[in-house]
Amino acid sequence: MNSVKILAIESSCDETSIAIVENGSKVLAMTTNTQINTHAKYGGVVPEVASRMHAENITIVLHETLTKANLRLEDIDAIAVTYGPGLLGSLLVGVNFAKTLAFIYNKPLIAVNHLIGHIYANNIENKLEFPLLSLIVSGGHTELLYVSNDYEFKLLGATLDDAIGESYDKVAKVLGLSYPGGPNVEKLAKDGVDYYDLPLPVNDGTYNFSYSGLKSSVLNLVNKEKMHGHKILKENLAYSFQKVAVMEICIKVNKALEEYNVKQLVVAGGVSANNYLREQLETVCQKYNTKVTVPSLKYCTDNAAMIGAAAYYLYQHKIFANLDLDACSYLDICD
Ligand code: KG4
Ligand code: ZN
Repeated sequence: MNSVKILAIESSCDETSIAIVENGSKVLAMTTNTQINTHAKYGGVVPEVASRMHAENITIVLHETLTKANLRLEDIDAIAVTYGPGLLGSLLVGVNFAKTLAFIYNKPLIAVNHLIGHIYANNIENKLEFPLLSLIVSGGHTELLYVSNDYEFKLLGATLDDAIGESYDKVAKVLGLSYPGGPNVEKLAKDGVDYYDLPLPVNDGTYNFSYSGLKSSVLNLVNKEKMHGHKILKENLAYSFQKVAVMEICIKVNKALEEYNVKQLVVAGGVSANNYLREQLETVCQKYNTKVTVPSLKYCTDNAAMIGAAAYYLYQHKIFANLDLDACSYLDICD
């Protein structure tokens, strides 16, 4: 097939990102406008502010991306967009923008699931090798999947309550760290030791995860120490929390590697930026001679290149969306 250039749009949370991706792996240009500094003032993403900022920025981000790639919209083969899951108002900005471009320039429209995008982020600098296990760890998701081939997903387990990224963010708040908490907790933990005894979530033998218990344990511990007039050793608490949070992941990954013979573990989502998690997963996978693939930082967190990478398979199979495409804030990976 000739070179296929997909213009991809991602606006599901607090990043307005547009990329042009060739043949599902070569990123010709990407611009990501992050709203983190604005939301940090509120300690988390404010949905109304996020959608307004997407609307303000999206045409600027488009212009910058086309300029960087030295391309015009006429040169693009298809328009891809994240249609869910995510914040409804934020998703709607991207979806309506994509529909408008597809209509005006008469291009096929491709609807991409954000979670599938995170998995295909691993196809940009490396190549997905099937069958594989995929671990999605983000602010909204903690999922383990068996992927036998392109777009053939079997959900093994998911979080029963909080997502791992969410628990990092909440623990960060308790420790007085700014949003987004994950990178700050990781940084603090580097200077800590395993001092506090935090319980591992009950292991029920399934692939499901649980993080609300761990979060409550941290909260209770902080309150108790305060009541007794003890000083919280923040570095140590960050270390002990991270150790248990990552152990929960490693136990399930180990179980899946025992059960499934796979070529690769691909890690996806914002928390995959965490070095401690990467190291621990490497250790588990070494036992099974399984390769671990993690995207570089700019493709770990929300970005449009991953949406362009995931859209390529849909383009090849002519799986196009209609102009009545709607945003879905709740969307399963298997939908
Ligand atoms: O995938 P993502 O950018 O957005 C979605 O949730 O879809 O993930 C954001 C999450 C936040 O909870 C953030 O705290 C977490 O990823 N995160 C990290 C790290 N970097 C980002 N968590 C732990 N360690 C990190 N280094
Ligand atoms: Zn994400």
